[in-house]
Amino acid sequence: MYLPQLLARAEKGEKLSVLTCYDASFARLLVENGVDVLLVGDSLGMTVQGHTSTLPVTLEQMIYHTDAVVRGAAGGAFVVADLPFGSYQKSPQQAFDAAARLMAAGANMVKLEGGAIMLESVRFLTQRGIPVCAHLGLLPQSVNVTGYRTQARDTSAANQLLQDAGDLESAGAQMLVLESIPSVLAEEVTQRLRIPSIGIGAGPHCNAQVLVLQDLLGLTPKPPRFAKNFMTGAGDLAAAIRAYVAAVKSGEFPAPEHTF
Ligand code: KIV
Repeated sequence: MYLPQLLARAEKGEKLSVLTCYDASFARLLVENGVDVLLVGDSLGMTVQGHTSTLPVTLEQMIYHTDAVVRGAAGGAFVVADLPFGSYQKSPQQAFDAAARLMAAGANMVKLEGGAIMLESVRFLTQRGIPVCAHLGLLPQSVNVTGYRTQARDTSAANQLLQDAGDLESAGAQMLVLESIPSVLAEEVTQRLRIPSIGIGAGPHCNAQVLVLQDLLGLTPKPPRFAKNFMTGAGDLAAAIRAYVAAVKSGEFPAPEHTF
């Protein structure tokens, strides 16, 4: 699937379902059960590798997992791959070199974390044929600065996030992940931007929702408050995935208890 088809569906008001995915078997299962976008997230550092953060994940590892997911998805879903910590922050040229390798592995888009500091790189990549998903709010690659907690709670941080979101769109970003921010702020960002917002712990007003697959499957020992275990009562993996997709499409997920 190509970006224009996906964006057209979001523009018509369809809520897009996104899940993280790290291997071919799950990619096949997610596609068969209607997931629109597979995110090869650097959360694999925690879910697959057992680290306490995403920071140890390397570009080579992201290429390996992207390659596997792309093969499993077999063109049935849009694949976004994370640029891992240290592979893109130095310069637009460094970001391009890393992103080009993920695109060559079959990704349809790359994702990077950060606001003002990333504008030049977003412009550089998008002008050279690499679609970019930006990521604001809680930035897991900056956990050593912020910790894992809700972001942009005060007026000045909220205004900064609004400014960054608009600037990233102007620089060429074509999707935007909003992680762990107040629902009212995510709603305002979503209203102001033309590009789809993808919420995770950002309330029900985003154009799309994303969850970490292991959180959805009840495999995370201490899941974040915004996650929901869709295995409860589902019977099997396929039914849990279908329940997630249906809940996102209908707007039932996220419910108030998953929202800040
Ligand atoms: O790596 C990841 O799984 C992510 C999601 C939390 C959006 O970036």
